[in-house]
Amino acid sequence: MLRSLAREFQLVAPAAFRRRLASYSTGDGGVAGGAADGKRLVGKVALITGGASGLGKATAHEFIQNGAQVIIADIDSELGPQTAQGLGPSAHYVRCDVTDESQVADAVDAAVARHGKLDIMYNNAGVTGPAYPPSIADLELDKFDEVMRINLRGAVAGIKHAARVMIPAGSGSILCTSSISGILAGLGPHPYTVSKFAIPGLVKSAAAELCRHGIRINCISPAPIPTPMSVGQIAQFYPGLTQEQVARIINGLGELKGAHCEDADVAKAALYLASDEAKYVTGHNLVVDGGFTCYKNLSFPSPDQVV
Ligand SMILES: NC(=O)c1ccc[n+]([C@@H]2O[C@H](COP(=O)([O-])OP(=O)(O)OC[C@H]3O[C@@H](n4cnc5c(N)ncnc54)[C@H](O)[C@@H]3O)[C@@H](O)[C@H]2O)c1
Repeated sequence: MLRSLAREFQLVAPAAFRRRLASYSTGDGGVAGGAADGKRLVGKVALITGGASGLGKATAHEFIQNGAQVIIADIDSELGPQTAQGLGPSAHYVRCDVTDESQVADAVDAAVARHGKLDIMYNNAGVTGPAYPPSIADLELDKFDEVMRINLRGAVAGIKHAARVMIPAGSGSILCTSSISGILAGLGPHPYTVSKFAIPGLVKSAAAELCRHGIRINCISPAPIPTPMSVGQIAQFYPGLTQEQVARIINGLGELKGAHCEDADVAKAALYLASDEAKYVTGHNLVVDGGFTCYKNLSFPSPDQVV
């Protein structure tokens, strides 16, 4: 029906309106940037903190596959250049410690200097912090501050400096990585949990202002995925196991039968949120957890256990 409408309107409608109508009938919703040919970020420039490894690296790969230029901003000055080289000419490494605001500012400026603009800022760098001591009664507040400085303050700095260049441009998409540890407590150490709970709040607070400037901001909350961070953390509880064995343990933690959470799942969520396909999505927490945080079973005793 839309096609026949489009045919009729060709006689009378202005050219811009006809193009819009035609895009509805072909099902691409008018999304610009080559979505129809599978390249959803053509012409876009993205900066990914913590992009040297794990989820950031997988997202950099996905963004590049979709036509983006990517700046990998990471504290690891050995792995960072290697990752960028492996990703090819569309990736470029800049050293950046997100706890140092001036380095975050410099990374944003480096993206603009190299490519003339910044369309996508992904504040993804994070650490779990020490698993011990487990009790809040023994919490070392310096360690707490360390985790908050990377996971939360680093994201605040990223949003601040992305906004600095995106507000004058009147557009942009900012992403942050939270976690299922930001939805349910008890899944990680206290500082990590607190930092991850704060991320969706930070995103909403920033969205409240950035909406007015045409900038979207969202976060992603993944379930456990075997990356150097999670494997290193869980391995502490299983001395002697290989990395593959620990990865299998992590993959076994999910609830959704027949699948486990992979870095590519986060990369595809980030691709959606970063792209124009999510042009009306902001302030959102996209949970990628196979249902893990949406229910809890009541543990009824079996009849023979009832006293
Ligand atoms: N892997 C998981 O199970 C999981 C689940 C939920 C959320 N997350 C979150 O995903 C994000 C990425 O974690 P990952 O699993 O890919 O870990 P990872 O260790 O593989 O990658 C993290 C990257 O961040 C970098 N980094 C650390 N501190 C930094 C700093 N101060 N400045 C700049 N870069 C820094 C590291 O060098 C590393 O390259 C983190 O925010 C983490 O909390 C991970």
